[in-house]
Amino acid sequence: MAHVVHSYADLPATAHACADRVAHLLREMIGARGVAHIGLSGGNTPKSMYAVLAGLPDIDWANVHFWWGDERCVPQSDKDSNERMARESLLSRIRFNEAHVHSVPTTLPPAECAAAYEAALRRVCEIDLQSRMPIIDILLLGIGDDGHTLSLFPRSPTLNESVKAVANTIAPPTSPVKDRVTFTFPAARSARYRIFLAAGPDKKPVVQGCLANPPADQPSAKVGEAEWFLDAAAAP
Ligand code: 6PG
Repeated sequence: MAHVVHSYADLPATAHACADRVAHLLREMIGARGVAHIGLSGGNTPKSMYAVLAGLPDIDWANVHFWWGDERCVPQSDKDSNERMARESLLSRIRFNEAHVHSVPTTLPPAECAAAYEAALRRVCEIDLQSRMPIIDILLLGIGDDGHTLSLFPRSPTLNESVKAVANTIAPPTSPVKDRVTFTFPAARSARYRIFLAAGPDKKPVVQGCLANPPADQPSAKVGEAEWFLDAAAAP
């Protein structure tokens, strides 16, 4: 599994480098197929990268489809909504096509929400003939200090999902929102590109775990090879 690791002095520099890479891939995907599908990550770390990305030139935003790799089961107006964060830090600053923003239908009960979101992915995205998973071009990923990524948490039964592309799951009690919807491992592994963005000393041990000798139950070590954009504090 070949990872590509980039590290920078601080989060601003890391955010700029990551945004440049995402912009390059968006241009490449649109150039190749006329459209790009990006899976946005949630939490706090991506905010500064999204703000930089919104200011980069020559991105045909009208042909970008926006998805979320995971979402909290709250209204999009909720302070903990990943969609709200992305709208505030990215979408509000670019000329995008609202029809290409594929919200996770969090008004539905979690299981129905996951099924409806998967149906939308399968309706809109190419399907990988081998994995039978919907293909996201660029899947952005964060990492929790417990080693989770997306909403795939250690010791969760959702880690064993091998058929569904999207599942509803329960976050640990320490998380801001209990009910979640998340890409599963098969869906994450079917992305064309996976990009991790992580910063801060709390992430260093789990980043090390992914890049060196992955512990048996570290979800972030199981999504497949990825490009890593890290600040010096999080880098091994
Ligand atoms: C979420 C995220 C989650 C996040 C990590 C890191 O919905 O919480 O998708 O996987 O990427 O928890 O979050 P921070 O960037 O806030 O540390």
